[in-house]
Amino acid sequence: MKVLITGAAGFIGSHLAEALLSRGDEVIAVDNFNDYYDPARKRANVAPFQGHPRLTFYEADVRDADRMYKIMADHCPDVIAHLAAMGGVRYSIGRAPLYTDVNLRGTVGLLEVARGGAVPHFVFASTSSVYGKTDRIPFEETDPCNQPLAPYPATKKAAEIIGYTYHNLHNLNFTALRFFSVYGPRGRPDMMPFMVTHRIVNRREIQLFDAGQMKRDWTYIDDIIAGVVAAIDRPLGYEVINLGRGEPVLMADFVGIIEGLIGKRAILSTPPAPPSEPKVTFADISKARRLLDYDPKTAVADGLARTWSWYQREIGTSG
Ligand SMILES: NC(=O)c1ccc[n+]([C@@H]2O[C@H](COP(=O)([O-])OP(=O)(O)OC[C@H]3O[C@@H](n4cnc5c(N)ncnc54)[C@H](O)[C@@H]3O)[C@@H](O)[C@H]2O)c1
Repeated sequence: MKVLITGAAGFIGSHLAEALLSRGDEVIAVDNFNDYYDPARKRANVAPFQGHPRLTFYEADVRDADRMYKIMADHCPDVIAHLAAMGGVRYSIGRAPLYTDVNLRGTVGLLEVARGGAVPHFVFASTSSVYGKTDRIPFEETDPCNQPLAPYPATKKAAEIIGYTYHNLHNLNFTALRFFSVYGPRGRPDMMPFMVTHRIVNRREIQLFDAGQMKRDWTYIDDIIAGVVAAIDRPLGYEVINLGRGEPVLMADFVGIIEGLIGKRAILSTPPAPPSEPKVTFADISKARRLLDYDPKTAVADGLARTWSWYQREIGTSG
């Protein structure tokens, strides 16, 4: 199978590219190496598979329609896994125009390219953040999700919706996967697992909102990748599917596990959570189990131990 991955130099995209290459697929990878976080980290993400004979890598922006049409025409992929995005809930506050441009206009541009190139299947990286202000816990895909708390989830929800339009009018299979707080080796430096580790190692203060009483449904990268690969393999018409672990963890406990692995205490400040943050995220994963045979295997303590091993090897603890 030929898979076009956007955001292939990022955390999740680089793991997806490796997984597909290792099972024999052809991968066409696109990333613009933006500086939302250090592009050197992204170069390091792709270094292990950059020279693979079944990989073609393009440094390109998904908003560049001409470039994307050309890539599509040259390769005729069977499926697009669209992971490129501006991530980060809090960073999106005050940056709605940028997030709309990359996450919504960029997705629509790619949907147009898919339509023009008759690509039959589109897998879209959405987020648990679309659940926003809701009382329905655990989060179920039938929730209308019409009250996103920040520009980032608003743009992701909008992209899910226009995905339906392309499915309806142009017979495109569109699967939106709502990822729940993904962590693991190559994890994003703006997210809690990396940030907490890095700051404990470097003896810097960590902001732990609401004194660690928020809960997050942390999902290990290998489990997410298994779900994405299953979605790539199974065109389903139009579906929105949660990919989480289904076991929310108190943030105070989460930090405690990392402290235990490092053998040092965190220096904490505990401001109230900003209004962009839900108190809890909690995935109902029964739909993913049913449609994708999704079965997350990695307990948070095990996943964090593997992440800490990676951190010591790749980032180092001397700083
Ligand atoms: N990591 C998580 O916990 C999480 C949770 C929910 C959803 N997601 C979604 O999953 C996807 C991947 O997330 P990630 O954590 O790997 O983030 P990431 O930032 O590590 O990866 C995204 C990649 O997309 C690239 N990119 C951004 N804009 C681009 C553009 N205009 N053209 C080409 N490339 C562009 C970036 O350079 C980056 O390498 C994103 O769509 C994100 O919104 C992630």
